[in-house]
Amino acid sequence: MIQLKPADKMPGSFGLPILGETLELISTQGWGLAKNYQRYGPVFKINLLGKKHAVLVGPEANRLVLQEKVDCVSSYLGWKSTMEHIFARPMMLQDGEEHRRTRRLMAPLFHGKAIANYFNSMQSEVNRCLSQWLERGTVPLKNEFNQLALRIGIRLLLGVQVEREIEQIEQWYSTLVRGAVALLRWDVPFTNYGRSQKARRQLKQFLQNIIAERKSHSRQTSDDVLGLFLASVDEQGNALAESQIIDETIHLLNGAHFTTATSLTWTLVELGARPEWRERLRQELKRVLGDETLNLGHLKQLNQMTYFLKEVERFYNPAGVVLLRGVVKELEYAGYCIPPGWGVIVAQGLTHRLPEIYTAPETFDPDRFSPLREEDKKHSFALIGFGGGEHTCIGMEFANMEMKIFLATLLRHYDWDVTPKSEAGVSQKFPFQAERELQAHLQIR
Ligand code: HEM
Repeated sequence: MIQLKPADKMPGSFGLPILGETLELISTQGWGLAKNYQRYGPVFKINLLGKKHAVLVGPEANRLVLQEKVDCVSSYLGWKSTMEHIFARPMMLQDGEEHRRTRRLMAPLFHGKAIANYFNSMQSEVNRCLSQWLERGTVPLKNEFNQLALRIGIRLLLGVQVEREIEQIEQWYSTLVRGAVALLRWDVPFTNYGRSQKARRQLKQFLQNIIAERKSHSRQTSDDVLGLFLASVDEQGNALAESQIIDETIHLLNGAHFTTATSLTWTLVELGARPEWRERLRQELKRVLGDETLNLGHLKQLNQMTYFLKEVERFYNPAGVVLLRGVVKELEYAGYCIPPGWGVIVAQGLTHRLPEIYTAPETFDPDRFSPLREEDKKHSFALIGFGGGEHTCIGMEFANMEMKIFLATLLRHYDWDVTPKSEAGVSQKFPFQAERELQAHLQIR
């Protein structure tokens, strides 16, 4: 029988008292872990926010934590300190049977027929966005994509179509998320946190009103996510409580928003710097679409575009470098026993840079996903920018559809420049800092 070692014996250190490596990790958006990996290898310990954590790097570790031993870890314990005060307990902060039940009720909202119905609204928001860019000349890229993804979210998730209401929700939402990073969580009017909590109450009230209005008109069913949500029941005929639906919807706006915007931002930077790839994608669009108007069926045939987006997922990790979990039952890995009370960090960003999976991993190279190479197929948990296992991103299809509609429309009708140019093609380890500087300039082709 193999003798397991206690997790305390892992290589690594707990750093400063209480804070440990928290500041280093926040300031490097998680990439600071790359240094520990170089020094200690694929399993090491750190202290994050006063709690002992095991950092596990590699596809086998990803599979173990996210899928095989999912009952030994808790997403709630992983994310609660950064998310619960803003988003309460949506599905991402649920575990076990509670999570599975919510997921069963939400899954149909993001697949098949439901998704197909979102196409036209996405296309009209993309058209609106691009014609505004053209008028304005130069635009701050990330802000614009945040706004585009948020507007698509508001229209499709909440079913809100009136311009004045969309703008009001955008405002509440930005105030809400500003409070997410507030160090001082004091719910009084003059703090960022207080303003954010007020915005949350306003958003909730707004959603309560929409739900009440739909119920009073017996109009619970409609094509938007909220409408489908209100009508969704499981095999036993149970639905989610109204307060849960509101929490999920507010959290969905978050999921639908920053990640997609980050991904699109870096796609434009990389594509802008690669004329040969722009040409390849345009040739592909010509072949698949001919003179037709873009439709859902076309998107599935845009394989080269898929490779490009996957490389952005691998290289830039739009949802961040790490996924967090709390250990609730002993977890064994690599000869160590990680006890309840510890945290475990799935370092997706580091997996995505492993040379044993990806050839020249510091180089941006979408061809690695083409049929001749398929580097991500070496392991089912080698590419996990959308997560994996039970908590895999429920909005993956939604996000890919939105990104492909944007790219197809852009490539067919426009040319663009992104400045500063030096950001493209480098081993981009701090994308969230660099992206604030990026500006785009659009011209008609
Ligand atoms: C490029 C875009 C996106 C990326 C990279 C991304 C990434 C992720 C990742 C990594 C997770 C797993 C979190 C974990 O395991 O702890 C996740 C979960 C989730 N995402 Fe996304 N996401 C994207 C877009 C979206 C969109 C558009 C929506 C909604 C419309 C969405 C809604 C969610 C939800 C609700 C969860 C929680 C799922 C669960 O706990 O079962 N995401 N996402």
